[in-house]
Amino acid sequence: MDKSTQSREQWNSRLGFILAAMGSAVGLGNIWKFAYVTGENGGAAFILIYLACVFLIGVPIILAEFTIGRRAQSDAVGSFQKLAPNKPWEIGGFLGVIAAFIILSFYSVIAGWVLKYVWSYITGGLWSTPESGFGGYFGEFISGTYWPLFWHLLFMVMTVGVVVVGIKKGIEKANLILMPALGVLIVLLAVYSLTLGGAKEGLSFIFSPDWSAFADPKVYLAALGQAFFSLSLGMGALITYGSYLSKKEKLPSATVSVASLDTGFAIVAGIMIFPAIFAFGLAPDAGPGLIFIVLPEIFAKIGGFGIVVGLLFFLLVAAAALSSAISLLEVAVAFFMRKYEWSRKKATIILGVVIYLIGVPSALSQGGPLSGKSFLFGLPVLDGLAMLSDILLPIGGLVIALFVGWGWKKADALAESDMKEGFLASLWIFLLRYVAPVSIAIIILNATGLLSAILGAFGIEF
Ligand code: PFF
Repeated sequence: MDKSTQSREQWNSRLGFILAAMGSAVGLGNIWKFAYVTGENGGAAFILIYLACVFLIGVPIILAEFTIGRRAQSDAVGSFQKLAPNKPWEIGGFLGVIAAFIILSFYSVIAGWVLKYVWSYITGGLWSTPESGFGGYFGEFISGTYWPLFWHLLFMVMTVGVVVVGIKKGIEKANLILMPALGVLIVLLAVYSLTLGGAKEGLSFIFSPDWSAFADPKVYLAALGQAFFSLSLGMGALITYGSYLSKKEKLPSATVSVASLDTGFAIVAGIMIFPAIFAFGLAPDAGPGLIFIVLPEIFAKIGGFGIVVGLLFFLLVAAAALSSAISLLEVAVAFFMRKYEWSRKKATIILGVVIYLIGVPSALSQGGPLSGKSFLFGLPVLDGLAMLSDILLPIGGLVIALFVGWGWKKADALAESDMKEGFLASLWIFLLRYVAPVSIAIIILNATGLLSAILGAFGIEF
C-alpha cells in the first residue's frame, strides 16, 4: 500500500457512500435544470431521449467511474495516471476538474437564488402574491447586482464549510436525513399539483411526445447533457467518491440505486411542475427562472399552510444543492490536495474563492448588468456555461467509457466492478465499448453541426 492510500479517508459505512453518491446526483439538476430544459426542449420527446441516455449511456458509465475510483484510490486525474501511467487517458480527468470549476460556478449562483427564496419565505416576501406577481418578484431580485452576489457568496461559504471538514464528518452526515425528506415532499407536491386543473395538459406535455422534436439535434445534446449533469457523471465526481470506498462494497447495486433514485426524482419533479405551469397559464420555456416563478404560485394556491410548504421545499432543495455542490468542489479539492500537497483546508478555501469569482458573471447575467449580453453559443453567461457543461461532461464520459471498455481487459474490468460473468456483464462491456462512445460522439458532432460538415466532406448529405 503506498502512502497516499494509507492516509486516504474512507466512508463510514456502505449506506454513507450510497447516500453521498445519491446526494451528489440529486440536486438542482433534478428540479431546476430538468424543469427548464424539459420546458425549453418540448417536453416528452426530450424526456424519452433523456431516459435512453440515462440507462444506455449513464448507468454503464456510473459503474465505470465507481470502478476506476475504487481501484485507483485517487482523484479524477490521479486515478487515470495510476492505472495507465504516461498515457493520454488522464486528459479525461483534467476535463473533469475544469468542468467542476465551471459547473460549481453557476451552480452556486442558482443555489443562491434558492437560499434567497428560503429567506423570503421566512421573512414574509413571499407570504402573499407580490404586487408585480411571482414573475415580477423574481425579475426584480435577479436584476439587482448585490443581492444575487450575496446569496451566491453565502452558498459558496456553506459548501466550503462542509468540504473543509472532510469526508466522514462533513459530506457523509449532511445527506442522511435531508434526502428522504425532500423525496417525500416532492411526491406530496406532485400529487397536489395534479389537482390544480392543469393535469391533463401538464401530463401530456411530459408524457406524450411531439414527434417533430426528434428531428432536432439540439434536443439530443440537451438530453445527453442533462443525463450526465443529473447523474453527476463524466467529470470524476463518482471516481472521487468511489476512491473513498473500501473493497467490500458491491458496486453494481450502488449504481442501480443511484441511477433509479435520481431519475425518479426528476420525473416526480416534472409531475410537480408541469401541471402547475399549465394550470396557471405560464409558459414552460421560461428558462432558468422557471421554478422560481411556478413553484411559489403552487404554494400560494395552498393557502396559509403553503408558506410552510414553500419554506420547507426551498430549504430541502438548498440541502440537495449543497450535497451536490460539495461533490463538485471535492473533485477539485482532491486533485489539488494530491497534486500540490495542499492541506484540505488550504485547497478548499482557495478553490472556493476562485470558483466564487468565476461565478460572478453568471450571477449578473440573468437580468443584472450583464443581461442580454451573449457570451458562449450566443447565450448569456449562465446559459452558455450550462450548455458548455452539456458538452464537457459527455466528453469526459466518452473517455471513461473507452478507458474501461477498451483500456482494460474484460476480466479485470469485471473483477474490479464486482460484475459476475454473464449476460449483464457482457452487456455492460458492450455498452461501454460501442453504444456509449458512438452515441456520445454522434450527438455532440450532430448538435455542433460538425457531423454534417464531416459527412459533407465525403459527399454524403445529412
Ligand atoms: N448531479 C447534480 C445535480 O443534479 O444537481 C449536479 C452535479 C453534481 C453535476 C456533481 C456534476 C457533478 F459532478
